[in-house]
Amino acid sequence: MSKILVTGGLGYIGSHTVVELLAHDYEVVIIDNLSNSSIEVLNRIKTISQKNPEFIKLDLREKQNVFQFFNTHTNLAGIIHFAASKAVGESVEKPLLYYENNVNTLVYLLQNCKKHTIENFIFSSSCTVYGEPDTLPITEDTPVKPATSPYGKTKKISEEILQDTCSVTPLKTIALRYFNPIGAHDSGLIGELPMGIPQNLVPFITQTAIGLRKELNVFGNDYPTPDGSCIRDYIHVVDLAKAHVVALQRLLSGKNKTPFEVFNIGTGKGSSVLEVVNTFEKVTRKKLPYKIVSRRAGDVIAVYADTTKAYKELGWKAQKTLEEALLSAWKWEQKIRTQ
Ligand code: UD1
Repeated sequence: MSKILVTGGLGYIGSHTVVELLAHDYEVVIIDNLSNSSIEVLNRIKTISQKNPEFIKLDLREKQNVFQFFNTHTNLAGIIHFAASKAVGESVEKPLLYYENNVNTLVYLLQNCKKHTIENFIFSSSCTVYGEPDTLPITEDTPVKPATSPYGKTKKISEEILQDTCSVTPLKTIALRYFNPIGAHDSGLIGELPMGIPQNLVPFITQTAIGLRKELNVFGNDYPTPDGSCIRDYIHVVDLAKAHVVALQRLLSGKNKTPFEVFNIGTGKGSSVLEVVNTFEKVTRKKLPYKIVSRRAGDVIAVYADTTKAYKELGWKAQKTLEEALLSAWKWEQKIRTQ
């Protein structure tokens, strides 16, 4: 039973991944600073898994405490690193917060990997590194473009830091480039908990449907796409969580082909904003109030993944449909509002 450290393990993707790790009998240690999550999530994880992962409240920016943690937690077989800030708009306002929170913390973790000979590392990257791609679907060989936000830059820089480290230490890394994670766990016990007004499409839709928001603003219907709205690859968070387990298994069994590998984690299918709205209305039988407004600064026209590499090398592909993902997001929204 390998012991795995999950940073940000009480967050949206982290919590779903912890559940999958526990289902595969990994021993899990969770670090989280609770800045964008709640301690209640730990209880939910325990209820779902009927297991008792260790939890340490720790902010990875506190260098001394991070080193102290690794001195007292030995025999870690690997790290899955989620802990990071992820709001694009906020990153423009507070770039230094993003560089400190997303980049400094990675350096501290890697210093400890070297010191304690921890050789397996899974990194949360993003399709944002591809920017507006010249060709679709996006393969891992699609050129990375200059990032348009400090958030995007931290993902790009982090991949480079990992690649450089992998080339001179025993570290092996898989960077998973997520497309758009949505949905919630089947149990209805864990899901996305956006603080304040949601910036992302699906939480905004579910909050509108439940009456917390008046209407959804659809950002632009004049893009060069079939219905004029932007296209994204929406992946169910449980499928995404499972990708982490297979990536970890690849590293632990030494099946990786190079010390630093990247994989696109999406469904391979692009859906427009209006398709998402229509599908949501269909599966929930609810009318969603929305209006078309002008484009949102920084949005790319269309992104969706070519997932061939993930299937060939990891044996992973997304199982759940957009319908299932939207229905699970809706069930989750209803559940959190009635608690
Ligand atoms: C955004 C980031 C991405 C980041 C991810 C993290 C950008 C350009 N990309 O993805 O780097 O990894 O968040 O969560 O910021 N939309 C509406 N109305 C809304 C909200 C969204 O029409 O109220 C549209 C957007 O214009 C976009 C689509 O829905 O076309 C998806 O938006 P969102 O959920 O914010 O994700 P991304 O922008 O793709």
